[in-house]
Amino acid sequence: MEKILVLDFGGQYNQLIARRVRELHVYAEIKPFNRITVDEIKAEGYSGIIFTGGPNSVYDPASPHYDPAVLDLGIPILGICYGDQLMAYMAGGEVSSAESASEYGKTTLSVKPSPLFTEIPKESVCWMSHTDYVTKVPAGFQTIAATLHCPCAAMGDDARKLYGVQFHPEVMHTEYGKQVISNFLFTVCGCAGDWKMEDYADRMIAKYHEELQGKKVLLALSGGVDSAVAALLLNKAIGQDLICVFVDHGLLRKDEGDFVEKTFRKELGVNMIRVNAEERFLSKLAGVTEPEHKRRIIGEEFIRVFEEEAKRIGHVYALAQGTIYPDVIESGKGDSAVIKSHHNVGGLPDVISFEKIVEPLRDLFKDEVRSIGTTLGLPKELVWRQPFPGPGLAVRVIGEITKEKLDLLKDADAIFREEVAAGTDPLRRPDQYFAVLTDTRSVGVMGDARTYGYTVALRAVNTDDFMTADWSRLPFEVLEKAGSRITNEVSGVSRVVYDITSKPPGTVEWE
Ligand code: XMP
Repeated sequence: MEKILVLDFGGQYNQLIARRVRELHVYAEIKPFNRITVDEIKAEGYSGIIFTGGPNSVYDPASPHYDPAVLDLGIPILGICYGDQLMAYMAGGEVSSAESASEYGKTTLSVKPSPLFTEIPKESVCWMSHTDYVTKVPAGFQTIAATLHCPCAAMGDDARKLYGVQFHPEVMHTEYGKQVISNFLFTVCGCAGDWKMEDYADRMIAKYHEELQGKKVLLALSGGVDSAVAALLLNKAIGQDLICVFVDHGLLRKDEGDFVEKTFRKELGVNMIRVNAEERFLSKLAGVTEPEHKRRIIGEEFIRVFEEEAKRIGHVYALAQGTIYPDVIESGKGDSAVIKSHHNVGGLPDVISFEKIVEPLRDLFKDEVRSIGTTLGLPKELVWRQPFPGPGLAVRVIGEITKEKLDLLKDADAIFREEVAAGTDPLRRPDQYFAVLTDTRSVGVMGDARTYGYTVALRAVNTDDFMTADWSRLPFEVLEKAGSRITNEVSGVSRVVYDITSKPPGTVEWE
């Protein structure tokens, strides 16, 4: 199979490079520079290699270097940023450090004719982020691009098909970045581009079948898309040896526990243990009102429940997690096993003994995970499920959590979600929408009687990344219907308000 090696020298955009290649329908795999030898590269039969960026300077003795024999394999190489400098250094060129001429951000790139710049205008915008740059190209190379502060912004040796770019073609700010990568793949490497995202699933299934067959693997299923896709993938690879533990802490949305159980156990045939632990969690949460305290209790109790189940199961070989690439970036680690920091399975590796962590999705972005989920037959409701906090409804019941308040919130939330789904176009729907049970009671009137019930707040936001968010301008009809249904159908609620706070200064959740 045609594939590209992304040789990782530690830069921050390395996954993005692999993603760009995959978007162009060529399979790309990332290998840390110190985990693959030149002989192994040769044996793998790569169509091309991309040297990634990295934080170091090539003259720094601690900087990552690579065997120069890689340049003589006859495999086309594209070096990006540090990868470009390293290539120049390895091939006998010169790299200099220019503190004063550091370039960060957008700048104008002027290119010369080169196979790497096919169909790219002479001048365009590129994204630079460097202090060092190539000051003398190695023998056989030509300078093929420049910017105002960087006389050699790209170099190429057409005969050996070796290219280096100082700018970052993988980031969106580089106007013709995608075209540069496409030129490298198709014009330089001669790739066919017939790979599909679905093939990734097949590959992973085959890999884990070989690695894990006959060994017990444990996975904490949350009902979210990431752990769901990881579970399905591993289920296809090792069948019943994958044991999913679904801890129903009673803080899920209305009927969600039953839905997850029905979907995984009955429809998808996944080996799943559901632990009904609502009472246990509620008793731990009794009297607790402080949000972070609630989170801690839930996190700790989750680990205890999981630990007990793991003990019952006996020896497990590996713990599987639905870590995806943004989690890896967020936690700031590249190489080692990483566990979602804000996720409530964060403490698991410390409490159960296993030999390995398996993270089948750690190279993928959310949309890639969704695409695999769809391919593997995950129901739409799960593939497109909105994000849901690990501590669940506990952070949406303000003040003390009681069973009565939780049930009330579940009903109000279900009505709101129903009305948003019924009254909005799926493509324009808010990215997250839910109800919050505030701790405020207010006076109402029903029939001739005075009521004194809770105030429910409705929250809906539009966002790209959940780091910032705008409150959704939901149609008044949707709000009107939701408000009227909630006050009529959910006894104990006498008032409904709509949250018009954006983030910042607010957060998405109330707690
Ligand atoms: P905030 O409230 O921080 O939320 O603006 C941003 C996104 O993160 C979700 N969220 C959480 N997810 N554990 C999680 O797994 C948590 O404790 C948590 N708190 C917030 C939130 O639903 C939103 O999508």
